[in-house]
Amino acid sequence: MLVDCDPGLDDAIALLTAAHFAELVGITTVDGNVRIEHTTRNALAVAQIADLNVEIHQGASRPHVNKPRNARHVHGATGLGNVELPEITRSFNSDDAVGFILETSNRIKDVHLVAVGPLTNIAEALQRDATLPDRLSGLTIMGGAVVGGNVTAAAEFNIWADPEAADIVFRLGRDVTMVGLDVTQQVLLGTDQVTQMRQANTPKATLAADLLEYAINRSHELRGWTGAPIHDACAVLTVTHPHLFNGDRRPVNIELTGTHTRGMTVVDNRPSIAENHNTLVLRTVNANAVIKLIVEAITATQTH
Ligand code: BDR
Ligand code: CA
Repeated sequence: MLVDCDPGLDDAIALLTAAHFAELVGITTVDGNVRIEHTTRNALAVAQIADLNVEIHQGASRPHVNKPRNARHVHGATGLGNVELPEITRSFNSDDAVGFILETSNRIKDVHLVAVGPLTNIAEALQRDATLPDRLSGLTIMGGAVVGGNVTAAAEFNIWADPEAADIVFRLGRDVTMVGLDVTQQVLLGTDQVTQMRQANTPKATLAADLLEYAINRSHELRGWTGAPIHDACAVLTVTHPHLFNGDRRPVNIELTGTHTRGMTVVDNRPSIAENHNTLVLRTVNANAVIKLIVEAITATQTH
């Protein structure tokens, strides 16, 4: 698995989940929840704390059309809540995330690309090499929703941050799985999970517990919810544990111009539309099982 991300509280937990349940062959970073310097630094910090020996390549510093957006009100000024990060002892491997994605797909057969930030890097990779999907085992995206949004009434953050990139990815991608808010907001982690993580008492588990606690507090303050969705970890688990999710193949188009709907994923749900489309739109999830798996990944002492 190769994870393209913008850590981000839930991105960080997703990386730890991926490192446990999959063979993580690389991490690429993108501007999103916070600026690229922070998302890259955060990816390095997560890898260092969890002792992950994985290449990290920095990617796009901004969308091509949009101004850079951010979600600091959710993830904190640095992107990892109020966690005090250690001094980083290594550097990122390159600032050519797109080159790394393409090179990895040539070097390793059947890599699954999991994109959990704005799709700027992935769009550029597909534009640079349209044969990329031939070499991937799949492209899974945390983004969008069948109904509603979280940044606007219609749009989810990752798509809203770079709709032009999302448009390219949904048009040029193949074997795309969309893990949208309809799924991820069914999986709320709460204080019980924080307690379970703290009991493990390892650097990795303490980091995840701190991130989750921050996410729960923000989720409560911003939305009145009693738990926090850990969107990006759900996307990872759709690849490693697909039997826990259900959906159907649908045409998905990205709204680029709507006054109130820019960044919306327009899913064609009409019954008359045959189920042979490019995008597997996930809709349901076994939330309890997914929550257990996230805790298992975080509290485990062994990686994959
Ligand atoms: C998505 O937006 C980001 O803030 C999260 O990291 C997640 O990828 C949820 O809308
Ligand atoms: Ca993210």
